[in-house]
Amino acid sequence: MKSRRRVEGTVGVGVIGVGLCGREHARRLGGGLPGARVVAVADADLARARAVAETLPGARALATGAEVIAAAAVDAVVVAAPGAAHEELVLAAIAAGKPVFCEKPLAPTPAACLRLVAAETAAGRRLVQVGFMRRYDAGYLALRRAVDAGEIGPPLLMHCVHRNATAPAWFTREMPITDSAAHEIDIVRWLLRDEVAEVTVIVPRRSGHAPADLPDPLVLLMRTRAGVRVDVEVFVNCQYGYEIRCEVVGETGTVSLASTADVLVRRAGRVTSPVAADWRDRFAGAYDAELAEWVRSVRCGRAAGPSCWDGYAAAAVARAACGALESGRAADVELAERPFLYE
Ligand SMILES: NC(=O)c1ccc[n+]([C@@H]2O[C@H](COP(=O)([O-])OP(=O)(O)OC[C@H]3O[C@@H](n4cnc5c(N)ncnc54)[C@H](O)[C@@H]3O)[C@@H](O)[C@H]2O)c1
Repeated sequence: MKSRRRVEGTVGVGVIGVGLCGREHARRLGGGLPGARVVAVADADLARARAVAETLPGARALATGAEVIAAAAVDAVVVAAPGAAHEELVLAAIAAGKPVFCEKPLAPTPAACLRLVAAETAAGRRLVQVGFMRRYDAGYLALRRAVDAGEIGPPLLMHCVHRNATAPAWFTREMPITDSAAHEIDIVRWLLRDEVAEVTVIVPRRSGHAPADLPDPLVLLMRTRAGVRVDVEVFVNCQYGYEIRCEVVGETGTVSLASTADVLVRRAGRVTSPVAADWRDRFAGAYDAELAEWVRSVRCGRAAGPSCWDGYAAAAVARAACGALESGRAADVELAERPFLYE
């Protein structure tokens, strides 16, 4: 394995893609998060890149992601363009030897993810962290600690819910699986320390609020290699807000995420509590923590967090689920051999 490359002083970050998600990352990295500053941004929409750069002292807007990666002031790169653009950008960052934080999905297909795994393996050191931020959420961390400590005995079942108020207009038929359930797929692997072996997709009656070509809601049924059964309801036009639930059922008890509301209001004969508006609200602390860890890892030259391999494994399960959606039958998940770099 090649020697680590540390970054002395403040890490100069280049952000590629400054839409909803990239702008959030740029805001965090450009102010408040110790040890980093944003020095360059790019977006397919140059006016948007310029507008974001103006809000970040010392940052300049560049025309392309390739220019950001090549810029001397850029020590490390954030890729938050849509998934279809990730492979080319992450490959370029690896070729330049620059650490890269890539939003999920790592790439749209397992084959594309494996090309990134191969490039990183050839580089001889981990350079990529994937944006599976739920691993940094206080609730999920407590849940994992409880399972690891044996508090509920061996896990048998897991129930998950992933609801968004509304999906963007460009959401395709597969995106409830590849973009939304991708988070649950990663959490299942991380929390149970197991791999998904088989997946089925159940499509109930379509919500009248979903476009005609979007199967919404849908349910993923997964079986892990150890035989744990996992159900995930994905409902991306639920109307009322953003809600995430997770419960693990073990032999001697269950453990689940608690409500994230700070208050309960009792008024006029009712008890109410607020629901998060969207993922920025619900996972704000997790985004802070994942980027803080990324900056620390860049400074010490040792990549941490969800890896290229995790991005690949999630894509392999998502691809099998997309096949199951079309066939109506269970699909097996085949994983390639895991390179030593990710052991
Ligand atoms: N981790 C999370 O919770 C989370 C939440 C939201 C989005 N995401 C991920 O972040 C990524 C972006 O999603 P979003 O919601 O911000 O989308 P968005 O459409 O709001 O923003 C994407 C931006 O990328 C730009 N862009 C497109 N192609 C580009 C290219 N080749 N080079 C540079 N810029 C390009 C677009 O002009 C746009 O400004 C996706 O991969 C998405 O899955 C992750």
